Amino acid sequence: MNDNDIKVAAELRMSLGESPLWSVERQTLYWVDINNGYIYSWRPNSGKAPERLELAEKVGCIALCEDGLLAATASGILRLRLPLGGEPERLVANAEWREGGGNRFNDGRCDAAGRLWVGTIAFDEQSPVAALYCFDQGELACRRTNVSISNGLAFSPDQRWLYHTDSLTRRILRYPFDVRSGTTGEPETWVDLAALDLPGVPDGAAVDSEGYYWIALYGGGSIVRFSPKGGLVASYALPCPHPTMVAFGGRDLRTLYITTATQHLDAEGKARWPLAGSLLSMPAPASGLPEPKFSRGASRATQCAK
Ligand code: BGC
Ligand code: CA
Repeated sequence: MNDNDIKVAAELRMSLGESPLWSVERQTLYWVDINNGYIYSWRPNSGKAPERLELAEKVGCIALCEDGLLAATASGILRLRLPLGGEPERLVANAEWREGGGNRFNDGRCDAAGRLWVGTIAFDEQSPVAALYCFDQGELACRRTNVSISNGLAFSPDQRWLYHTDSLTRRILRYPFDVRSGTTGEPETWVDLAALDLPGVPDGAAVDSEGYYWIALYGGGSIVRFSPKGGLVASYALPCPHPTMVAFGGRDLRTLYITTATQHLDAEGKARWPLAGSLLSMPAPASGLPEPKFSRGASRATQCAK
């Protein structure tokens, strides 16, 4: 495979395409445009254009849950029914958000036990005032502070490692992870983009069935693949500078979908990169893994006791 295998899956001019997510059950790809509050839904084999739902606020990421999706928006975590439409149900508030500002939710993903891990992004995309949370049994517990832009969340297939990055550090950390208890050990620097001379910042990721970690290099115009030991094994140049995240999808989970952004491009940049803001795809050398569903909502009893 080479860079020429990269195709346009859906031609769009998204501001900040993000959080691609494949539902095996529905054979549907979902993703968001964070800045416009859109959630997209598309069945690649339907021959139809993507559909979209507009939320009243920015939406950082989505995850699967029974009968629907979770959406981590600026102000909190919502549950939406599928097919998309209808009133969302608010599950929990984002304590870092305040009307007219604050830190919104950003990248997120469920672990194999069905907890949602989700981070925030600093209001100015710079100050170390954001955090990483774990949403479990109705409780949003803070798990790491002093973050500027939380990104890159993923788990090794055996669930022994949790990957995470604070994008501006240009380092990807991995934490020893216990999926039964949801606890993490001391993190170590697993990949350092500066040491590898790779351009851009680490953004959204996905792990394939061989345990290799794929990540979009925002501002670096490429997707890179790392071995479980952290060795760079492949790099794919893209026809735009700001890829944001990757997801495996398609019938056999062998298509890599890539979301991209137009934000941070001026008029000249947009003219130079006509595919920026589109959903891209390429055949993957390994298959992906089905995304776990969120399954740790507050029990009825807990809700009644409040
Ligand atoms: C954020 C963007 C940011 C990008 C690169 C994304 O996850 O949502 O706002 O520009 O990461 O750091
Ligand atoms: Ca991201």
